Amino acid sequence: MGLPKQVRLVDVGPRDGLQNEPGVIETAVKLELIDRLGAAGVRHIEAASFVSPRWVPQMGDAAEVMAGIERRPGVVYAALTPNLKGFEGAREARVDEVAVFTAASEEFTRKNINCSIAESLERFAPVIEGAKAAGIRVRGYVSTVLGCPYAGDIEPAQVAAVSRELLDMGCYEVSLGDTIGVGTPLKAKQMLEAVAKAVPVAQLAAHFHDTYGQALANLYAVLEEGLAVIDSSVAGLGGCPYARGASGNVASEDVVYLLHGLGIDTGIDLQRLVDTGHWIAGRLGRSTGSKVGLALGCS
Ligand code: HMG
Ligand code: MG
Repeated sequence: MGLPKQVRLVDVGPRDGLQNEPGVIETAVKLELIDRLGAAGVRHIEAASFVSPRWVPQMGDAAEVMAGIERRPGVVYAALTPNLKGFEGAREARVDEVAVFTAASEEFTRKNINCSIAESLERFAPVIEGAKAAGIRVRGYVSTVLGCPYAGDIEPAQVAAVSRELLDMGCYEVSLGDTIGVGTPLKAKQMLEAVAKAVPVAQLAAHFHDTYGQALANLYAVLEEGLAVIDSSVAGLGGCPYARGASGNVASEDVVYLLHGLGIDTGIDLQRLVDTGHWIAGRLGRSTGSKVGLALGCS
């Protein structure tokens, strides 16, 4: 396929990046993070998650976050919705896009959303129907595509089957999550090749966590297969509360540096993104998890 000319970066920092933070993060801080990402040129921001606040307390202010965003033209503000209750909250909060999420592993799905893969898809049907009626696009996530903390190795054919199902149900795009960051480039390439037989690469995104420091290499492997949508998190924030050992998403700054170095356009101002990474890391009382952020420093 060869490398794409342009990549759409989806910054999931305000959601995936913050959902696992133990301390209370004020809504105002989340809003400033979202605003700074938009100002840096990020055009797709996963801003919140309409899940049970008992399961993920940090996302309990999703409605306030969505209501407080000063919307920038051309920016998509998305939120996770695991079921109809979540979707209704998201629709009332005027999200631009919702995401349903399941996994390639039964064990992980059970821990994460308390049901089987088949039951999760049943729950998504009315969400997708409601979204269609409201003119809201639906993204689908498949977690544990390169390994599961509970089940171990995952068959690429299983990833392909769940991805195809999400697409058939009405998702416009499926994001492939290496939830615990265990993948290596050869595995990532083989997984993508298998999934691409069932779903066009143009409708796939890569969502790689960087637990083992392999995410950039894995991204390069799937970019070579023509994949052109990448999820990442500013400052490398993040982790899934239901995936033992999962650390942050690959840092957006590192991805943008890689892409620009390959001559791939992102529309993002790298230095502004780096500044945003330092700012949010400072608010959380630590230094940035982005190597590029450390190298470039604040402007
Ligand atoms: P459940 O307990 O089976 O749900 O949880 P339930 O339908 O039996 O409801 C139980 C209670 O939750 C009820 O309240 C509901 O009203 C309430 P009660 O009557 O007991 O007071 N409830 C809700 N409240 C607010 N919003 C909702 C909602 N739904 C039910 N949407 C459920 C099922 C899915 C709700 C739960 O398991 C949950 O919220 N899980 C969220 C898990 C999560 O957010 N995980 C992290 C995100 S996924 C991720 O990080 C991976 C990803 O990044 C990709 C990757 O890296 O691979 C996307
Ligand atoms: Mg994730």
